[in-house]
Amino acid sequence: MKNKVLENSLQQAIKVYSNADGASLYVADKIAQIIKRKQELGDFAILGLATGSTPKGVYKELVRLHQNEGLSFQNVVTFNLDEYYPMHPVEEQSYVTFMRQNLFNHLDIPAHQIHIPDGTLSLEGIQAYCDLYEQKIKDFGGLDMQLLGIGRSGHIGFNEPGSLKDSMTRLVNLNDITREDASDDFGGKDRVPTQAITMGIQTIMQAKQIFLLALSERKAAIIQQALRGEISAEVPATFLQQLEHVEYILDQKAASLL
Ligand code: PGA
Repeated sequence: MKNKVLENSLQQAIKVYSNADGASLYVADKIAQIIKRKQELGDFAILGLATGSTPKGVYKELVRLHQNEGLSFQNVVTFNLDEYYPMHPVEEQSYVTFMRQNLFNHLDIPAHQIHIPDGTLSLEGIQAYCDLYEQKIKDFGGLDMQLLGIGRSGHIGFNEPGSLKDSMTRLVNLNDITREDASDDFGGKDRVPTQAITMGIQTIMQAKQIFLLALSERKAAIIQQALRGEISAEVPATFLQQLEHVEYILDQKAASLL
């Protein structure tokens, strides 16, 4: 039996939109508000960003706000959740390429304020690099916002089933479902890297605000498990149930089994 107070606050955290555009516009507006609030304070806005098909509509709207409504990103510092390993930034499938094409190339954000895990490191150098990634986030005062998708494995970032609640940025093995879902991008599952560098569950949970966006019927089953299932490392997204500062923004199809 779940605690009633927790149940109610979880219910309030769920926003369901009739379509993907409505959900994306809501999240983009929230991010724009954070950026503007920080501008008024003369501060940086520290944004944790995600890749994949899900956030594309959010990024499209942020680009529109910049190009048509004068929203500046000069005070924005970004940290991406993850990157495949190994992966060279110029590759078509790299998250560096994704972020440039979908967002950064169209904004006025200074290049040195962008952080994406480096998929070119030697194995021995990775842990020190990951520790530094964590330290940089801390040095900026922590993430003001983390944008998340959710994988059908239940992952957030590339924190696959078995990831611990106190995990930090690190090298991980990718789950079978995740590699299956990436197979189109790579021209076959065998070509999908078996590893990635990802922020940890703890890194994500420490963000001051979290927006988990899930769109389409493909996500309905995992959304039901993530929001209604027992909290467990087997479905890493369930750890978010323990937080007050999470919003789940869904389209009707992703919410259909709730
Ligand atoms: P998707 O990936 O947006 O491409 O569905 C989400 C995720 O794996 O986190």
